[in-house]
Amino acid sequence: VKQAPGTPSPERGEDLARQFRGFVGPLADDSPLYARLSAAVAEDPALLALSDMARQGQMRPNMLFAAVRLLLMSHPDDPLASWHPDIGRRAPAGDPVGQLREFCARHRDALVEILRTRLVQTNEPLRSAILRVALQEVQRRANAPLAVVDVGASLGVNLCSDRVACDYGDGVLRGDPESPLQLACELRGPNQPRLDAPLDIVWRRGIDLDPIDPDDTAAVAWLRALIWPGDTSRLGRLMDAVELVRRVRPPVLKGNAAELLEEVCDLAPKGAHLCVISTFVRMHQTPADRAAMDAQLTRVAMRRSVSWVTTAALSDDGEGEGVPLVLRDPAGAHAEERLAIHHPHGRWLQWAIAERRVG
Ligand SMILES: C[S@@+](CC[C@H](N)C(=O)[O-])C[C@H]1O[C@@H](n2cnc3c(N)ncnc32)[C@H](O)[C@@H]1O
Repeated sequence: VKQAPGTPSPERGEDLARQFRGFVGPLADDSPLYARLSAAVAEDPALLALSDMARQGQMRPNMLFAAVRLLLMSHPDDPLASWHPDIGRRAPAGDPVGQLREFCARHRDALVEILRTRLVQTNEPLRSAILRVALQEVQRRANAPLAVVDVGASLGVNLCSDRVACDYGDGVLRGDPESPLQLACELRGPNQPRLDAPLDIVWRRGIDLDPIDPDDTAAVAWLRALIWPGDTSRLGRLMDAVELVRRVRPPVLKGNAAELLEEVCDLAPKGAHLCVISTFVRMHQTPADRAAMDAQLTRVAMRRSVSWVTTAALSDDGEGEGVPLVLRDPAGAHAEERLAIHHPHGRWLQWAIAERRVG
């Protein structure tokens, strides 16, 4: 059977369909619209082929839906826009699946342009509530202030984890109470992290393939587009995070971490403990880049003490939507210790380390 030009091979089509079927997963309640649309795209060869215009390694469902949302921002009267409360001007009506098909057919070239140039860059601010606790633990163990390098920093919000304010469910605001980014993160499980331990970040640098400048409205619009429709609290947090990043201005270097990481680590001041962080980045890197990054950190660890806090692969051992956050030791063949399980967007944190009794 001859394939029409631009149509993915049957194997590739099945792989793409699988990505769309698994896209929403346990988060279906967060977006019934995306649950419905992703199921429909999985059965639609033309839409699957369009999604496959995204750059290599970029997750197709995130890219296709965000590209559509970005374009809808300049077509707020399109019937499909009405399903996006922050964009549309009318109440939703009709069949969003048919409207998606029509919108994609009409704006194919513009969508391809977005798919080819943008990357999955979701920088969820609530993740800094999780990282704040992890970094406090690293600082406590190292007994020194921290120099932080964020791999895949995007807007750089996680580099400002010491400058957010967060209520971990007990009504106490930790961090900087004057912060424009006020967060709430629920603590779950029996273990209590040390929320009041000091967090002193004396030096910070990010690396990203395409850093987001908080003053670049088109780039910030792309971050908005990556947020699921109707999630007003995430949209609000993003705008607060943009304000925080404008104040802190963490330097984020443009480039591939697989090439730059060692060089950037070598710039960190010697009096501080070096901590590399990488959240929701590894899945976007090629296996070769991941291996190169590991090797660079092993070399850094030969020269100085370094910790690495990173999200690990989603586990399938009954933790539902939880994502593990681990502490890796680049000096010890990347031995891994689990710090926490957390909601992918940081809504809750389950600390994994049982308090050790002294004496
Ligand atoms: C899904 S975002 C995560 C952003 C942030 N770490 C967070 O958790 O909110 C992934 C980011 O990693 C960046 N990225 C992907 N591969 C990279 C690489 N090889 N080197 C540097 N940055 C990379 C992307 O450009 C994107 O901004």
